[in-house]
Amino acid sequence: MPLLTMKQIMADSVKLATTDVDPKERYAVGAFNFSTIPEMVGIVEGAREKNAPVILMASLGAIKYIGSLELIAETAKGIAKTYPEVPFCLHLDHATDMEQIKQAVVAGFTNVMIDASKEDFEINIARSKEIADFAHNHSPYGINGCSVEAELGMLAGHEDNIHVEESGKAYTDPSLVKEFVERTGIDALAVAIGTAHGFYKAAPEIKFDLLEEIRKQTDVALVLHGGTGVPEDDFRKCVAMGMSKINVGTGLKKVYTDAVREAIKTLPETEYDPRKIVGPGRKAITAEIASKSDLFNCSGKAPAVLRSIYK
Ligand code: 13P
Repeated sequence: MPLLTMKQIMADSVKLATTDVDPKERYAVGAFNFSTIPEMVGIVEGAREKNAPVILMASLGAIKYIGSLELIAETAKGIAKTYPEVPFCLHLDHATDMEQIKQAVVAGFTNVMIDASKEDFEINIARSKEIADFAHNHSPYGINGCSVEAELGMLAGHEDNIHVEESGKAYTDPSLVKEFVERTGIDALAVAIGTAHGFYKAAPEIKFDLLEEIRKQTDVALVLHGGTGVPEDDFRKCVAMGMSKINVGTGLKKVYTDAVREAIKTLPETEYDPRKIVGPGRKAITAEIASKSDLFNCSGKAPAVLRSIYK
């Protein structure tokens, strides 16, 4: 199976989110930041374990560390060939440099996020539209071979290249949502409803009334950023209210490094096989993705996703 776009991956979830179904039927697709190539494989293996769709997210830090957009895109294509039963897409996360985003589209990313949320409304619209027009028309996979996510409002927190002080955060204004989506032509909207990037100092206070209001304004996929540390019941409520993509980054890094630390602690000093040292990290990631797939009600949804694409 080729790499899918995020729009394809989430079409089934979005349909359930925007029609009058039993909220228990709704689900969100898990989107996970990776830092290394083995983690990309570990994430897809976790989705395979649960017959779930999944989204692989490259942050700007991961691209710098791994080496290039092309290396990541070619790796993702190789993973798609090796795991044809897993519907997944490759997403560029929180990018701000217009040229880099276009380069990612041409390299073969199947979703890109333009994050102009720090800019004023008109600049955010102009940049998001420019990327949507480009991505929909210049993917190596053809017309609409790459979809686009943009952000309205601004989450607080720190992670990789993202630094927003608590005082600088801004909730998504529901009265701007319809216009933003229509004028930009984006496929998914990241919303600021009370979560933050990185670890929380206190439990987040999610504004569910705001989510309800936003969901009424548009039929595009809604994206929850800052998934690390969100209480399980809050996730369930967001999913039931129509969130289609949930991003988790920091927590996954911790899962990985905790497992590697434990391996180093328990193995004898004479052990030098890197697979025994970092292998448990990849395994831990696989288990975490499987568990999050259950939590997001996404387990077992791969066939429904494929049906919605190849009907
Ligand atoms: P966390 O690191 O808080 O899980 O957020 C991840 C994220 O939203 C990436 O876009």
